[in-house]
Amino acid sequence: TRVVVLLSGTGSNLAALLAAHADPAYGARVVGVVSDKPDAGGLVLAREAGVATVVVRPGDFDDRAAWDAALAEAVGVFRPSLVVSAGFMRLLGAPFLARWGGRVINTHPALLPSFPGAHGVRDALAHGVKVTGCTVHLIDAGVDTGPIIAQRAVEVRDDDDEARLHERIKTVERELLVDVVGRVAREGLSVDGRRVRIGSGG
Ligand code: GRF
Repeated sequence: TRVVVLLSGTGSNLAALLAAHADPAYGARVVGVVSDKPDAGGLVLAREAGVATVVVRPGDFDDRAAWDAALAEAVGVFRPSLVVSAGFMRLLGAPFLARWGGRVINTHPALLPSFPGAHGVRDALAHGVKVTGCTVHLIDAGVDTGPIIAQRAVEVRDDDDEARLHERIKTVERELLVDVVGRVAREGLSVDGRRVRIGSGG
């Protein structure tokens, strides 16, 4: 299964996927990495691993829709079966979802539907929850609102700050993402409304 990863940041989730895909039995291969930011650290990781990279910068396009369409095209060049958004800090618009919807998954560092958006870790900490976690879900038109594929809990400690909590979450998150991407690649996904099951049967 050909996988394209969308990222905007350091790429620790990408690094975990690259480590996993070295095993032919994993079932998924990262064939391309696409970013909105030319200086995303994850692009360096991809290049070091010999994986092709493409940057699609919003500033290079007249408007949001043009950028969205260009992003969809850039992803299409790699002919992926699955698109994984891992720390991609842009919303995917209707043109992109029209083409890739149902095959795009996202990882979020909170237990959705709690704490969606760009500051899920900070918001969970501020709310005083004792347990947070991470979620892998299908992307729909909303912000972190798509059907949930898998989740894992992570404890919040009294002396946590955002960075320390996010690191603890990321340790669990990349394991969950590697597990889910491999299983989806090998077994497929079946979606019934908001209920998602890994494993064909569909
Ligand atoms: C991850 O925690 C992801 O859920 C969040 O941003 C972080 C990206 O980390 N949206 P990395 O770039 O994969 O290290």
